[in-house]
Amino acid sequence: MHSKLTALFQKVYGRPPEIVTRAPGRIEFIGNHTDYNGGTVLGAAIDRGVWVGLARREDDRRQFYSELAGVVTTLPSGVLARQEGSSSWINYPLGVLAALPAFDLPAPEGFDYLAISDLPAGAGLSSSAAIELASALAFLTAVGSNPDRETVVKLGRHAENHFVGVPCGILDQGVSGFGQRDHLVFIDCRGPRFETVPLPRAAHFWVFNTHTKHALVDGLYASRHRECMEAARALGVGQLVEATMPKLERARAGLSDESYKRARHVIEEIARVDNARQALRRGDLSTTGRLLTASHRSSQVYFENSTPELDFLVDLLAGGLNVFGARLTGGGFGGAVMALTTPAFGGAQAAAVADAYAERFGKRPDILHAQTGPGAQVVMK
Ligand code: GLA
Repeated sequence: MHSKLTALFQKVYGRPPEIVTRAPGRIEFIGNHTDYNGGTVLGAAIDRGVWVGLARREDDRRQFYSELAGVVTTLPSGVLARQEGSSSWINYPLGVLAALPAFDLPAPEGFDYLAISDLPAGAGLSSSAAIELASALAFLTAVGSNPDRETVVKLGRHAENHFVGVPCGILDQGVSGFGQRDHLVFIDCRGPRFETVPLPRAAHFWVFNTHTKHALVDGLYASRHRECMEAARALGVGQLVEATMPKLERARAGLSDESYKRARHVIEEIARVDNARQALRRGDLSTTGRLLTASHRSSQVYFENSTPELDFLVDLLAGGLNVFGARLTGGGFGGAVMALTTPAFGGAQAAAVADAYAERFGKRPDILHAQTGPGAQVVMK
């Protein structure tokens, strides 16, 4: 990817990049919609992501190019207006530039910027957090600033919340920032506090991307966020992490069915994250897998962010040979399912799952045997 980036940069801008950064996509391992409720979550950085090349300019022009869009967009450095249509991808780096003052960090003036990716977009693997973190590292390096990982993570989330306009929690950016090969990232979102957890050797990840609509920006994610805040208010707590199942059951009569279901999912999901963390410590992948599938069932019944396509894949996978468990990964409402498998789960078995899906829904899902990888980093400066 590094040489591909350099060659494309040279072709587009007639000179090589001065700075190269990369940030990975992530798998949400367990902890669905727990992050913005102050809960805990486990995720894994994968070995695919977004690469950014940057070279400073003498003038104040900021030029943006992504391999996907295929055109250079030029903006004067004073302009931080939201972009629409085919240039809307620029909102991710622009959002980071707009976030810098909130962290007392300077922004570079003019530059040539280029992004490439080997992460499928809209697959629930968080290409948006990857581009935010790779951009943040590139801009900070350009101004000679070297803040800690946590600041880079928070810059990415700030861009997503305030510029892109998605009220997400810290999962995606936290995992992209703190990821490590052969490890999961555990986040206690209240701190936030980040920790890495070793992944047992026998654990393998397979991701099935349905290409069905991942409607984060379209408002379903935002409405779940709002429903959780309403449930917390109805329970008299600041955030759902402070509620317990006994408290919820006591309050049930006074709650709407919707508030009860959303709160129940979040409270029990946080308990599943803690149980999964303990099971992983013991190297117990069977228990971990059962918790993953239970998480999916809760999404189906209580959080109502699953779809028939995702349920079909989970039913097929979780009941199959060599699979510890399976669940939707990410926001839901489409996107991808991930399975935790033994090393014996292979390409042929994955293809059989994809065939069965295609027979039912008329379209094959993409299959990714995902490897864990390092977190966001400056590759060259
Ligand atoms: C998306 C958001 C995350 C998190 C998950 C659901 O990926 O960006 O912050 O809320 O959905 O767990």
